[in-house]
Amino acid sequence: MALLDIHIHAKRYGTRTVLRQLALHVNAGELVCLVGASGCGKSTLLRLIAGLDTDYDGHISLSGRTLHGLSSDIGFVFQEPRLMPWLDVSDNIAFGAPNSPGQQERIARLLNEVGLAGHAHALPKQLSGGQAQRVAIARALFRQPRVLLLDEPFSAVDAFTRMRLQDLLTELVQEHAITVLMVTHDLDEAALLSDRVLVLDHVPGPLLASLPVPLGHPRQRDDDAVLQARTDLLHCLQAAHAL
Ligand SMILES: Nc1ncnc2c1ncn2[C@@H]1O[C@H](COP(=O)(O)OP(=O)(O)O)[C@@H](O)[C@H]1O
Ligand SMILES: [Mg+2]
Repeated sequence: MALLDIHIHAKRYGTRTVLRQLALHVNAGELVCLVGASGCGKSTLLRLIAGLDTDYDGHISLSGRTLHGLSSDIGFVFQEPRLMPWLDVSDNIAFGAPNSPGQQERIARLLNEVGLAGHAHALPKQLSGGQAQRVAIARALFRQPRVLLLDEPFSAVDAFTRMRLQDLLTELVQEHAITVLMVTHDLDEAALLSDRVLVLDHVPGPLLASLPVPLGHPRQRDDDAVLQARTDLLHCLQAAHAL
């Protein structure tokens, strides 16, 4: 059985239908990338799964249990870090969570994992864009979600930072045994990170394609198999008229 099972009959904004008859699933431990033209509804879909928007016709379940509204089982990383500027890194990570014993130790451990040891009391304005996004990832992991949703999480940082964050995500996924659904428009990123790539149509409707990337992790960017996977993805997208 899939961990995350999604059936969206229709999602409308006013009279406009953005998603229609869309079905997809994510298996436990999978890292799935979601690609599609700008405006095709990728962010909308993530918001529905996260329970940030419950106004749709359909059904979303996690391990067979209906998801409706916010759930601590689902973590979210947005394109921008969205940190509270007046809170330090530590308080941003724990924001909204009830105070629990051992919290500071957990935050310190997470900061260490995301490469920000010693930054617990920094304010967001003292961080680079890449560091702020690391805090956003730590904040999402703090609640120990079973599924992490990421919406173009690395598209606002420079190319070098982006590569480091991609490597970080690979490590975290393995350490936290987490399941990931990530929107990206970067085929190199999809070939490097994903076990499967889902292609959303620009016309509301079923998925255009679900393409496996049957390579182990971690992967090297210059590995022939990764480069071939990227080329295969490109050809599949062209064949599916997604480009
Ligand atoms: N809150 C909203 N109200 C009205 N229309 C919206 C809203 N959010 C998104 N849309 C529209 O829905 C479509 C899909 O948006 P979005 O999910 O952000 O696409 P993507 O992330 O694939 O670029 C776009 O045409 C967008 O303009
Ligand atoms: Mg979007």
